[in-house]
Amino acid sequence: MTFEDDIRAVAHQIQDADAVTVISHIDADGITSEAIMMQACTDAEIPAKSVFVRQLEPMTMKYVPEDSSLKVFIDLGAGQQNLMEERGMRTEEVAIIDHHITQNVETPYLQANGQPYGHTQLSAAGVGYLVAKEMNPRHPHLGMLAKNAVVGNVGDMMAREHCGLTGPAREIAADGEKAGTIEILQRQFNSYGISTRPLRICLSYSDDPFIPGISNNELKAETFLRKLEIEERTAGGRQRVWEDLDQDEKSAIINGLAQQMLATGQDISRLLAEHYIFPEEERGTPLRNASEYATMLNACGRWARPRVGSAVCAGDRAQAYREGEEMLRHHKRIIREMMEYILDTGTIALSHIQHIHVRDRFPDTIVGIGAGMALSKLDFEKPIMVLCYLNDDPELVKVSMRTNTRMVERGIDLQAALMAASEEIGGGGGGHKIAAGAYIPRNAEEGFAERVNRIIAEQRR
Ligand code: C5P
Ligand code: C5P
Repeated sequence: MTFEDDIRAVAHQIQDADAVTVISHIDADGITSEAIMMQACTDAEIPAKSVFVRQLEPMTMKYVPEDSSLKVFIDLGAGQQNLMEERGMRTEEVAIIDHHITQNVETPYLQANGQPYGHTQLSAAGVGYLVAKEMNPRHPHLGMLAKNAVVGNVGDMMAREHCGLTGPAREIAADGEKAGTIEILQRQFNSYGISTRPLRICLSYSDDPFIPGISNNELKAETFLRKLEIEERTAGGRQRVWEDLDQDEKSAIINGLAQQMLATGQDISRLLAEHYIFPEEERGTPLRNASEYATMLNACGRWARPRVGSAVCAGDRAQAYREGEEMLRHHKRIIREMMEYILDTGTIALSHIQHIHVRDRFPDTIVGIGAGMALSKLDFEKPIMVLCYLNDDPELVKVSMRTNTRMVERGIDLQAALMAASEEIGGGGGGHKIAAGAYIPRNAEEGFAERVNRIIAEQRR
């Protein structure tokens, strides 16, 4: 079997269905995945509905309807096939489209997942796109599907390691470019916010790459721009963003940053990256590029409004978009507060990890994002673990862990560590080497960090 065979098998399973229920996850990858599958079903005239869950676990399985529709699990399911089996779901009732580590069960559920074939930089929305394209290679909405797939991939950090998408995910971006929905900008400054962040903010917020003298220093970023004679405002007084610059201005900034980094012996290999722009979207809005678009979807999903995000993916630029903007503002504010809380309070350092308990200050749906952002300002050698309480279940504690590629290269596997540690105490977890999460019983939270620390210590090479 090849990855292509699996995609074909899943596509046929969907095409043969009388009705479909798409079960998806509430983050940017899950929301774009849902939008892709719903569009694919609509275009194939298959009646479809969808359900979003925070995580597929015993408690949320009740949202998966017990009807005769084909259950298409997307961006989840690979690691939870035991739950499908426990419910007695048969092979012909299920199709899994995912990118998480898969689980071995007796029932041979059909699954399209790039992971086992070495496509580790292809998220669920990317696999969903390949399934949709297989269902109809001359799909009338291929450009729109490619755009959603790129947002999902970028949202799940698939472009981070190589400063751009690679493999099948990059080919999807190229499909979008051909269809006119995506513009691929090469050799740009590797930063977040190229469509909405004022230049000095865009520069001073950079932590990957870290630019000595500019990162975390807005005033120095301003001086740097002034020296290069780059206007920070348009003639009309609007703040300019990276996307507004002409090629000479971009080159001047990149050369200046490179000099500044080289002067202090920094590695400049992460200074440049590829960006994915959506030319049909209005300039200056968060929908203009893939990473900011993904943040808006995360804001909707993580704050319990995934359908608002889904409507935006399906093209709503009125009511849903306005709500999405509002969710985005709120999301950014709370994430900033959480970062500040972690940095002000400080983490507890063990020999191989650092941890912090935020109790009920922040919801379980965002602690992973806050953990990832805080880690970029903390000791990167020690993976961060953030624990919090769940507002709808006093018996459980949510755990989120994040590390970075350098530590993964040294043997760290957060998915394996969290899964082993949580299963020993009656909890459950999963995810990726670089980012993982778990739910554990509250009466077992004491000593949990130490347990994970021991496992991580053994993993380190
Ligand atoms: O797999 P799950 O999609 O829900 O992962 C969500 C988060 O995991 C992403 O928002 C991202 O922060 C992190 N992640 C990552 N690198 C990967 C995969 C996931 O940082 N390769
Ligand atoms: O929730 P968080 O963003 O920390 O999740 C990181 C990764 O861990 C995601 O891929 C998510 O799907 C996975 N996860 C899991 N089981 C859990 C919690 C999170 O597989 N109980």
